[in-house]
Amino acid sequence: MKIIVVGTGFVGLPHAAVLSEAGHEVYAYDIDPKKIAAYQSGEAAQIERYVNEPGLAAAIAETKDHYLFFTSDISSQCEDADVFFMCINTPPNRDGSTDLTYYLKAAHDIAGFLAQRKNQNRVVLVNKSTVPVGTARLLERIMHEHDVQNFGVASNPEFLAQGNAIDGSRRPDRVVVGADTEEDYKILRRVYSQFVNHVRIKYVETTPETAEAIKYMGNTLLLTYISFWNGVGARVAESLPNVRMEDLKIGVTADTRISTWGSYVSNGAGGSCFGKDIQSLIYQLNQAGCSTDLLQAVYNINEYQKTYLIDRAIHEANFNFNQKTVAILGLAFKKRTNDMRDSAALKAVESLLSKGVKSIRAYDPLAMEAAQQHWFNPNKNYLFERISYHDTVQEALEGSDAVYISTDWEEFRGLSRTIEKAVEPPYLVIDGRRMIPDYQSLVDKGYQYLAVGGALLEPEMETAVLSANGLVPEPEKQA
Ligand code: UDX
Repeated sequence: MKIIVVGTGFVGLPHAAVLSEAGHEVYAYDIDPKKIAAYQSGEAAQIERYVNEPGLAAAIAETKDHYLFFTSDISSQCEDADVFFMCINTPPNRDGSTDLTYYLKAAHDIAGFLAQRKNQNRVVLVNKSTVPVGTARLLERIMHEHDVQNFGVASNPEFLAQGNAIDGSRRPDRVVVGADTEEDYKILRRVYSQFVNHVRIKYVETTPETAEAIKYMGNTLLLTYISFWNGVGARVAESLPNVRMEDLKIGVTADTRISTWGSYVSNGAGGSCFGKDIQSLIYQLNQAGCSTDLLQAVYNINEYQKTYLIDRAIHEANFNFNQKTVAILGLAFKKRTNDMRDSAALKAVESLLSKGVKSIRAYDPLAMEAAQQHWFNPNKNYLFERISYHDTVQEALEGSDAVYISTDWEEFRGLSRTIEKAVEPPYLVIDGRRMIPDYQSLVDKGYQYLAVGGALLEPEMETAVLSANGLVPEPEKQA
């Protein structure tokens, strides 16, 4: 089939590469000629400047100029195309609604080209990026406005997680196709012929609106599950005496109905999807007059999680951040990416600055450039000048009074020896990812250690909790 992928970001580029592996003739189109030149070069370093995904550059090298073509002008390719995949970024507005400006511009451009076709073969326009329920219908209206003939619209949402885009595209859990006619389902079955009757891949055919809603439901449920562990699991282990987080997790998730994914407690889930999608679903349901209490609570729990360890450091460890130097390890929203969108580190840094820290010493194995772009902007808060950037963990720790571990990079696992070498007690370790299982050796040497899900209750607090629950006699009653 002849396929045009519109938009070559994180969604579009891996999708185009994997479609071309399946033997389709794929044109990856983007309005940004710099991106197109980078992909066309075939050089990994150039490609990864825009989309950094394991296996992507190799996949592009395999099919480029045979089945996969890059272009910033698709007018000439529209004539005989079978399918368009809309992979345009749809950023959030402040009120949670979705900014469709780029999407609409692309849709009108394509409609203009399609209206000029001499060939009137069936063409299907498929929404791949996450868009509000009803957007496929909007696309249909745009095509009608331009008087495009013989077309169908469909929704085929993307479920990929960052860092796994190529493997995930080659072997997805499910392919969801929302369309209106058997003719369009058939066209998409040809696009995805390798998945249609696959034993392990669910191939779901439904309406465009249901497909759009599946994407929001999926991401919102995942965030709800993470927030259950962060907002309930971690609190149980932190606040009730002698409850061990790791054992709690193993014991609960041993039930085959309960997933281990999502049970890794953290300082909040970030990334470009979860926060945006839950806010968008809240907005869409509110517009429809529905209550969204659960979703709002999940969103709030996740946002609170990004700074609550700093509050715990003040209240539980009696740490005063004013004029202190704090090292921050990990800036990306998760390991193996340089993406800082909605990252917990962004909120932690803002919270630390608002508490009067003298300086912040930052380190991340991949996200240093992204961080500098974010915090160097002269129009942003001048307090960001207090952030310095370092090449190693050791260097970031030097001269600091506390460290905040924000991302689950493997190199942060078991940092106790590095900490002991770099800094002396009194020193506070705040661990947002439970990266230091042997923390007791640090505590024995006089360091303070505070972790998400870490039951570091002082003995007197532990007794207070037990008495509050009627489990030990009140101290005065003992007398
Ligand atoms: C997510 C969805 O997984 C994917 O299906 C959707 O298409 C896009 O959004 P992604 O944003 O790449 O993918 O990140 P994901 O790996 O899901 O992690 C999101 C956040 O949750 C990260 O900050 C991660 O560290 C955190 N997380 C994940 C936890 O805190 N605990 C966990 O157990 C799992």
